[in-house]
Amino acid sequence: MSETTLESALRAAAVELQQAGIEGAETDARRLMAHVLGTDAAGLILRLKEPLTPALLADFDKVVKERLERKPVSHITGQREFWNRSFAVGPAVLDPRPETEILVEKALEQPFKRVLDLGTGSGCILLTLLAEREGATGMGVDISPEALDYAVQNRAAMGLEKRAIFAQSDWFERVAGQFDLVVANPPYIPLGDMPALAPEVLRWEPMHALTPGPTGLEAYQIIAAGLAPFLSPSARLLLECGATQARDVSAIFAAAGFVPVALHADMDGRERVVELRNDAKG
Ligand SMILES: C[S@@+](CC[C@H](N)C(=O)[O-])C[C@H]1O[C@@H](n2cnc3c(N)ncnc32)[C@H](O)[C@@H]1O
Repeated sequence: MSETTLESALRAAAVELQQAGIEGAETDARRLMAHVLGTDAAGLILRLKEPLTPALLADFDKVVKERLERKPVSHITGQREFWNRSFAVGPAVLDPRPETEILVEKALEQPFKRVLDLGTGSGCILLTLLAEREGATGMGVDISPEALDYAVQNRAAMGLEKRAIFAQSDWFERVAGQFDLVVANPPYIPLGDMPALAPEVLRWEPMHALTPGPTGLEAYQIIAAGLAPFLSPSARLLLECGATQARDVSAIFAAAGFVPVALHADMDGRERVVELRNDAKG
């Protein structure tokens, strides 16, 4: 029997994942192998011809089986890349998504000192903004204590304990202070759209992070109604939303007295981030 090398094990796993209908099977197999070996993508390439020990092969088979159950790679490895940093994630917290980087990019285009992150989850938005903006401080709130455990872990890994506060809070319940930048990626998927989500999302991500209710706009309505006392006069607001929601979200905040500034699109032209100001002078 021929020896199992990293390369042959990878090839077999990629075929198995592909046959199960998993997109990006080859990339997933490589990420899982790198995880098992405790290396990165570059390190893996250098070792492709090495034999795989029976113990490592058993470890690899185990994680491939998990992936076949549609468990996201990030939940298997416990890590997800966001803005070129690695964030601890798991089933109790939303996986940071690439589209959320649009919000971060727009936030960083202007100065800010105090950031409020509503529905902070892993803390990916707040912690990235603070890491990129020296001297800024902020607060992240989330209703889920399990999600906040990840935020706290990520804060420690990034050495931001002195600049980021996290609190368990039903939106503004425990928010204190005034902020010149408010960011939020609240749950926004309409309840009726949930069954159509990919199994990776539906089976493995927390429901309360995905849907706020029947219209998908419920969280924006609550945030728009309660935000004013926590804003400095010229505060900026950046809100992520679903691909067809930007105009509705903008209208909700405009009706609450905020000034629409822009709708920011992703690379496919879908408006995913709504930008507003607290007042017209800002
Ligand atoms: C779409 S996830 C965003 C997580 C993270 N900010 C990100 O961008 O990856 C929405 C977050 O809002 C939180 N959330 C839901 N309802 C909430 C509420 N009533 N008060 C505070 N946070 C809430 C969820 O627990 C979840 O972490």
